[in-house]
Amino acid sequence: MTNQPTMKPNAFPSLASTIHTGETRDEEIPRVVTEPVFETTGLSVLYSGFRAVKDVDLTIRRGEITAFIGSSGCGKSTILRCFNRMNDLIEGAAVEGQLSYRGVNLYDPAVNPVEVRRRVGMVFQKPNPFPKSIFENVAYGPKLQGAKKPELAEIVERSLRKAALWDEVKDRLNESAMGMSGGQQQRLCIARAIASDPEVLLMDEPCSALDPIATARIEDLMRELRDEYTIVIVTHNMQQAARVSDMTAYFGVEVSEEDDRRTGMLVEYNRTEKMFSNPEDQRTENYITGRFG
Ligand SMILES: Nc1ncnc2c1ncn2[C@@H]1O[C@H](COP(=O)(O)OP(=O)(O)O)[C@@H](O)[C@H]1O
Ligand SMILES: [Mg+2]
Repeated sequence: MTNQPTMKPNAFPSLASTIHTGETRDEEIPRVVTEPVFETTGLSVLYSGFRAVKDVDLTIRRGEITAFIGSSGCGKSTILRCFNRMNDLIEGAAVEGQLSYRGVNLYDPAVNPVEVRRRVGMVFQKPNPFPKSIFENVAYGPKLQGAKKPELAEIVERSLRKAALWDEVKDRLNESAMGMSGGQQQRLCIARAIASDPEVLLMDEPCSALDPIATARIEDLMRELRDEYTIVIVTHNMQQAARVSDMTAYFGVEVSEEDDRRTGMLVEYNRTEKMFSNPEDQRTENYITGRFG
């Protein structure tokens, strides 16, 4: 059940709209339907002319956790990277179709990708702290944005608290981030993303390099962050998707008979509860019950 997210006070006031309650997407269970953050229509990504993933239509709503699941190579990371224009950085990648962020075409030439990446932060599979102190890792983005000393210390503390890391590191902020455990490093990367005051957090298999205890901490953290950030997580782990997400997108692949090439596509996008109890598509059912590799 989705709790009602709070609107970030300073997040795009001109684009803010009201929360609609009582609308239902499923007859039995009423849910809060918030406004769309991302809407895609016919979204495809090509690598050097080959369509790696095609025809993705989905709406990601504010304050929800959306999980992308599906077997390896079906395009989950590729679609995720569209949401903060990271595919721009991959040579040979081209995006087709529509993708809007708060009603603005994200691929409009007037849109600044650097600003997009500040508003839409990303956390990767392997924790990637900078070889700098814990403090400097978190202060990095705000410094670039012009924050000065007293304010920086506040931002660093606030971000580390939000990432459930403050108590563990408050006495060693000047030590290198490279000495932290993997789970701590991943929470540091989340703190670093949060410090730039994003609206969205994209997480690409953020727990796959972590042990079960560190994974549970990140999952708890995601639930805590949900009210404030819209989160999209790619996960290999269906139990994780079932545990943390409100909405689940299942991606599958189509194999060409001619040349055996595989193209990913969105098979089903549904409420997580529904997806894991009574999916609408047989292919989803096969996947979640393990009848498909
Ligand atoms: N940088 C890249 N250059 C060329 N092909 C890529 C690149 N990244 C991914 N692909 C291809 O796109 C398809 C989807 O990959 P990816 O999005 O990584 O899938 P997933 O995250 O679901 O495992 C795969 O066939 C993969 O080989
Ligand atoms: Mg991937």
